[in-house]
Amino acid sequence: MRADPMNSARLAGVALFVLAVASSLRAPAPAPRKPAAGPDPAAILALKGDFERGRELVFESTLQCRACHRFGTGEEKLGPDLGEIGKKYDRAKLLETLLDASKEIDPKYATTLVETTSGAVHSGILVETTADRIVLQDPEKTIPIPLASVRRRVTQQKSIMPDSLLQALTPQEAADLLEFLRGLR
Ligand code: HEC
Repeated sequence: MRADPMNSARLAGVALFVLAVASSLRAPAPAPRKPAAGPDPAAILALKGDFERGRELVFESTLQCRACHRFGTGEEKLGPDLGEIGKKYDRAKLLETLLDASKEIDPKYATTLVETTSGAVHSGILVETTADRIVLQDPEKTIPIPLASVRRRVTQQKSIMPDSLLQALTPQEAADLLEFLRGLR
């Protein structure tokens, strides 16, 4: 099946197949929408966060935010610029975004999955469509794919941003991160 060159292509017929492939590429265990043993939003929101410690978490720890986001300055990244995110969301909404990234997702950041005629499967954000190729972008690389070698393609309303980002943080660290994000305006 040939992919429609328009981004709006929703190849319902192949969706189940590709979703199956996709889930095998993702976390080994089927990820529940909200991890049962994950961070407790109420506990995090009850804590007072520290802006500076939150900044350190983003800029000086192994948290991956900067792989996908710029914070007002620096090169364009895959995800939205967070330089003024504090104007857009309050703490509760920010936390919800971090715990459940796919709940509300701008279609321009939806994940596209492509299976090629050689059987390879790529996923990323669709950043370019021309008459003869499409280009996917993931956090590490740009993936140009000639249309002639696209066997199947489907767009998922699933964010490329992992829902598990806060798992490694203590509730206090999560509160610090929220305080930092809230201060970006
Ligand atoms: C693998 C890439 C990736 C990583 C890592 C990542 N994000 Fe994201 N993030 C995205 C993408 C893509 C979006 C836009 C789609 C969506 O809303 O899920 C997004 C959306 C967001 C939004 C909502 C933006 C808006 O305007 O609605 C916030 C807030 C956010 N990320 C914060 C973070 C923080 C904080 C971290 C680190 C703890 C992080 N992200 C790590 C890719 C990523």
